[in-house]
Amino acid sequence: MNTQEPSASLLLDKTYGWHPFTPLDEWLDPQHHPVMIASGHGSWLVDEEGKAYLDGNSSIWTNTHGHCHPRMVQALQEQLTILDHSSYLGLGHSLGASLAQKISQLTDLQRVLFSSDGSSAMEAALKIATQYFHQNGSPERKVFVTLQGAYHGDTVGNMSLGKSSFFHRPFEHLLFPTESIPMPGCYRCPFNQSTFEEEDARSYRKCQWECVSKAAEVMLQFGTEMAALVIEPRVQGAAGMVMQPEGYIEKISEIPHAHDALLIVDEVFTGFGRTGKMLASDPSVTKPDIIVLGKGLTGGVLPMAATAVSETIFNGFRGSFEKTFFHGHSYTGNPLSARAALTNLELFEEEKTIEKIKGLSTHLRKISACFWKHSSVGDVRIEGVILAVELVQDRLTKEPFRFEERVAYQINKIAESKGLLTRGIGSILFLVPPYSTTASELEQMVQILDDSIHDYFQKRS
Ligand SMILES: Cc1ncc(COP(=O)(O)O)c(C=O)c1O
Repeated sequence: MNTQEPSASLLLDKTYGWHPFTPLDEWLDPQHHPVMIASGHGSWLVDEEGKAYLDGNSSIWTNTHGHCHPRMVQALQEQLTILDHSSYLGLGHSLGASLAQKISQLTDLQRVLFSSDGSSAMEAALKIATQYFHQNGSPERKVFVTLQGAYHGDTVGNMSLGKSSFFHRPFEHLLFPTESIPMPGCYRCPFNQSTFEEEDARSYRKCQWECVSKAAEVMLQFGTEMAALVIEPRVQGAAGMVMQPEGYIEKISEIPHAHDALLIVDEVFTGFGRTGKMLASDPSVTKPDIIVLGKGLTGGVLPMAATAVSETIFNGFRGSFEKTFFHGHSYTGNPLSARAALTNLELFEEEKTIEKIKGLSTHLRKISACFWKHSSVGDVRIEGVILAVELVQDRLTKEPFRFEERVAYQINKIAESKGLLTRGIGSILFLVPPYSTTASELEQMVQILDDSIHDYFQKRS
């Protein structure tokens, strides 16, 4: 029982607030004293009582260079004295123009449309693809093909792309039909013939790329009606950090173009260093028509996202007035967010962040071997500085824990009490640290997660 008195701000929050992805009765339980964050510095967040926590999920996968980086603080303070906000509808500003150029160079795509978060940028991508075909002679191309377990955001369009029986049941009647292809996660792949080893399942997979063959069959079936393949490259984050085998994204990217359909790559989570590179997939190889960016774009400081498109798609919206893309948001192209994004990109150069990530990734690989000592660990996978530890009831059968048991949630609550904040899904634990994390902070994160798994299963048995 928690005897601690709730702070005034927590009482206020419990009276007036509503938190996303948060069961309400748990939040409102008088015995439950959720963490109220008061400040942040580097890879640490500090609560109102002064207790410090390592930010083990980069504040929902957004933060890049650490909290309140002095260069970021200085840039935003300065920007606030110059221009706070002006509409981007029919107007422009130099920050937006410079950022569009930088994103164009990064993505190999000529044109950039800004929005406020990953969901809206993905929704824009869907609408752009649809309107592009509608007004350029192929209105029958309406079918979007997605990966099983895909998550592209919570708007109605994005829910249609990533139908989840658990989350989306009340909305089924609102969703449009889409087609799915196998989830390329080797650990649970039905085509993988290998038996359990204490390694990332990708390293001992035995298959003939049946996931790609099946995907090719689906896309062939819908070929002339297909609008686009929508895909998260290398890692499907919210599906449970499902990591694709080497070569998958390159193979799959070829298929939509063979049917004159588009390739939409969702780098909202994977972009800006998460997988060890600025982008998880190399646009010069995969040749996407649309790349969507968000989360780390502003360094995790302000909301902003972007939909980058090819010149061919952009040109499909030129000509008569009716061809205009009538879509946008009040805060599109916000100058403060654009300044944050430009500063974020400068910091990547100045601090040689990609090199830093490589070092962190190598270290993470070494120290996360500790998880195998738990008999309930079925898979440990790493990509860049993303770690997933998948827990199972039985290693050999891979029988998962029931989703409703919320094993990851329970373990993360223990980790929270030990000074680590992170969120997993079902019974899969995640670590996604900011790039400011030192080797010793990374060791602390892994140690806390390791101890928390131990404590949870000891209590359970
Ligand atoms: C791959 C991917 N796309 C889109 C989104 C939606 O982004 P946002 O939460 O900023 O709306 C997310 C969020 O987790 C994501 O992981």
